[in-house]
Amino acid sequence: MALEKKAKLTIDPEYVLAEVDPRLYSSFIEHLGRAVYGGIYEPGHPQADENGFRKDVAGLIRELNVPMIRYPGGNFVSGYNWEDGVGPVSSRPRKLELAWRTVETNEVGTNEFIRWARELQSDVMMAVNLGTRGVDAARNLLEYCNHPSGSYYSDLRRSHGYEKPHGIKTWCLGNEMDGPWQIGQKTADEYGRLASETAKAMRLVDPSIELVACGSSFRAMPTYAQWEATVLDHTYDQVDYLSLHTYYGNAENDTANYLARSLDMDLFIKEVVAICDYIKAKKRSKKTLNLSFDEWNVWFHTLESDKNVTPWQNAPAQLEDVYTFEDALMVGGMLITLLNHADRVKIACLAQLVNAIAPIMTENGGAAWKQTIFYPYMHASLYGRGTVLRPVISSPKYDSKEYTDVPMLDSAVVFNEKNEELVVFALNKSLEDTLQLECDVRGFQNYRVEEHIVLEHEDAKAINTAANPSNVRPHTGGDAQIADGRLTAALPKLSWNVIRLRQA
Ligand code: AHR
Repeated sequence: MALEKKAKLTIDPEYVLAEVDPRLYSSFIEHLGRAVYGGIYEPGHPQADENGFRKDVAGLIRELNVPMIRYPGGNFVSGYNWEDGVGPVSSRPRKLELAWRTVETNEVGTNEFIRWARELQSDVMMAVNLGTRGVDAARNLLEYCNHPSGSYYSDLRRSHGYEKPHGIKTWCLGNEMDGPWQIGQKTADEYGRLASETAKAMRLVDPSIELVACGSSFRAMPTYAQWEATVLDHTYDQVDYLSLHTYYGNAENDTANYLARSLDMDLFIKEVVAICDYIKAKKRSKKTLNLSFDEWNVWFHTLESDKNVTPWQNAPAQLEDVYTFEDALMVGGMLITLLNHADRVKIACLAQLVNAIAPIMTENGGAAWKQTIFYPYMHASLYGRGTVLRPVISSPKYDSKEYTDVPMLDSAVVFNEKNEELVVFALNKSLEDTLQLECDVRGFQNYRVEEHIVLEHEDAKAINTAANPSNVRPHTGGDAQIADGRLTAALPKLSWNVIRLRQA
């Protein structure tokens, strides 16, 4: 029987957690599967622009207002020679790509990608190869990208038609170097030394850059925590961020337990903050290290089937998870978790952006459409800018297979002073019950409800397809209202809600 339960939220403009760094809404495109070829780039497609990039896909990305895109990997970067992807396309080599066992044509490389991203008003977060390469290739790529002119690599860029430096600010020192799957996997000491020396050389080329050191590939790695501590022992003074990666899934088909997994993400962030601060104390450092959650998403639907992909194809379908409605709720829960750690998480990349574990899907030669997870990501990116307030939440709780005391309500609150807008993101994880939400908003006199967006569906496994692209989509029929400093709203069972208040 459907019941109605109550949850309470106190919101006060004085309870400031942190300013949101807009890069919290970044994403990621890797040379993987059909992310680049057949995704963002498909010459000959009716929607291709003069450079071969799809305008329909670009239009969907624009709707997401993505501030920064990580590139070119991922696992791919650990075997990538960046020189293969610059200069005349006709002389670029076709190479065996070992991370995903495909053939890389190098038709798209550094310059094409940066030009494309900048047209979308997105910055690029560039990763260097610390798997098969090292200090030399990294400092040369940086000179190629950021040095104005008068040196071999900067003049090489200019000869390739890019007169002005790209000015790439944020750089990843390798990718998941703790993972046995990584080409050129390293121990924490090996990686820490290499990352530190690479950082030193890169900063000599361009002192204005920011650098991200690799944390563990995920929290369950056997070397987790010790890896972070050792790497930071080597790199603390040289880097600005430590990376975190995580993917969740519902392979067991246990929705209540699945949605509780944002608690694992919460714990992961708290633990990594503690390790950073331990090294800070150990070094008597004045610097506080922030976090770059540069891969996060749901990924499980294709893990088994992708084992059967025939190797050495050009841009095969890989990691093409078709996301369900409940996956969108999980993504919403993860976004709320990131927001509630905005004091230390300054960069986060939804992995990835097109086709491979992505909010946007395409058909080769055909349509592009929004997956279910597109919506919470878009809502957070559009409305989650400003100051995160600490929400004081009182919610009914449940126990699941792996978790106890799971709050039914997850919430984050963002105050955008400039726009005079207060936004409550609220996820009701209950499978049966509507949550009757009551918020004390007396600190926000004269605010009225602008809209109450709801993402809900009677089928937790509902998906969007090319034939039915709007099966799962939000509506604005939520019932939020304000009277006497109290905001009330019914949050339907299993629903993602965005309640936007504006000054009257
Ligand atoms: O995003 C897909 C892959 O997941 C990335 O290449 C890798 O870094 C991670 O394991």
